[in-house]
Amino acid sequence: MKPVDLKAMFELKTPALRRIGRAVRADMDAGLRNRRSTLLMLPAFCDAATGREKGRYLALDLGGTNFRVMMVRLAGRGRKPAVLAEAKYKLTHDQITGEGRVLFNAIAGYVKVFLRENGFSGRYGLGYTFSFPVKLLGIDEGILLRWTKGFTARGVVGGKVVALQKAALARRNVASVDIRAVANDTVGTLQARAIRDPGCVMGVILGTGFNICLRLPVSRIRKSIGAYGRSHMIINMEAGGFGRGLPRTAYDRRLDRASKNPGAQRAEKMISGKYLPLLVREIVLDLVKREKLFGGKIPEIFRSPDGFKAHYMDILECGSAARRRELAGLMLGRAFTPAERATLKTVCHVVAQRSARIAAALMSAALSRAVPADGGRGATIAVDGSLFEKYPGYEAMLKKAMGELAGARGRRAALELTKDGSGIGAAIIAAVAGT
Ligand code: BGC
Repeated sequence: MKPVDLKAMFELKTPALRRIGRAVRADMDAGLRNRRSTLLMLPAFCDAATGREKGRYLALDLGGTNFRVMMVRLAGRGRKPAVLAEAKYKLTHDQITGEGRVLFNAIAGYVKVFLRENGFSGRYGLGYTFSFPVKLLGIDEGILLRWTKGFTARGVVGGKVVALQKAALARRNVASVDIRAVANDTVGTLQARAIRDPGCVMGVILGTGFNICLRLPVSRIRKSIGAYGRSHMIINMEAGGFGRGLPRTAYDRRLDRASKNPGAQRAEKMISGKYLPLLVREIVLDLVKREKLFGGKIPEIFRSPDGFKAHYMDILECGSAARRRELAGLMLGRAFTPAERATLKTVCHVVAQRSARIAAALMSAALSRAVPADGGRGATIAVDGSLFEKYPGYEAMLKKAMGELAGARGRRAALELTKDGSGIGAAIIAAVAGT
């Protein structure tokens, strides 16, 4: 197989994106009606922030291998929130994949250390960003539907995440925090932008994981939302779970089978930063097997799934000559031949480009339904995540595909990098919950 075939295999022209978009819209509607759908469309039990939110809040951010704690001060009147203190803790393999109790105990322990080390001795309202598919029962409790992104901690799926966390805080004698809100990172990202931009209609994460949330009128939500008293609500689509009509290749299927959640998160496995290097690895292994690359010998880096890192893709696509040499040394103990370099570059490019185009199809479909708080036709999409922020050319590919889908008359939106939604956004949601 030549790289040119790979290009064809991973190419998605505009009509294919339109087909995906139609399937996304159908699943969005079905999900909002509690019908069978690959999109969970989970109510977030909050509306977009107004910018008037005020106060000091503790924010917890669980969603990847780094767990973060922050103390945030919201100043109101759309002013920029201040991060008063922040700490990041690396979660171990055992904490992520062992007993759930171990994970929640570790988090409680880190909260305790954080409060002590920073001398925070008051009582604090807390916003908890829990970036997995959580079915909220209200703004301050939710049930974990499944783990994603390699997390498998036992005894948590089906359980109430806030209750589990509270029990762990009690075990660690942390009595000074009050969990007021639990939210998805996409919702935090939307909120972090909404406090200064009433046109913000969506939050998107394009990082280790992938997901979208959007603002909708409650009249569109045909499932129980209890006594929620407002006219609009943010919905966490769990867009990474979308799985209808995606053009999967043999590589996608192999990656899926080897994953910790086979069959689930199909879109995420074609889009997000956790999976793109794994896809590159699958393709490279196949090319090596067919003796089209590296003289038929598998370099050590590709032998185990975590050998080939996400940032190697940046280097192969457009890193400096020095960084490429360094990577070739690590991979092969020698420089790349021009043919090897070209093949690796193509592999990374087709995988990243397809990711951006599928993400664009999902985002455009969501945009066609989302309603801004300012009632205007213009819209902003708040986006966070390493893929969007750092991958060379990713933002441009995403914008190009969204432009193709909007055509001459479709709705257009500005994509705004919005950092730290999972921290600042959690504090905002805790404040919104208190109003
Ligand atoms: C999770 C989402 C989350 C996304 C981005 C996905 O794996 O299911 O809840 O928003 O990752 O972190």
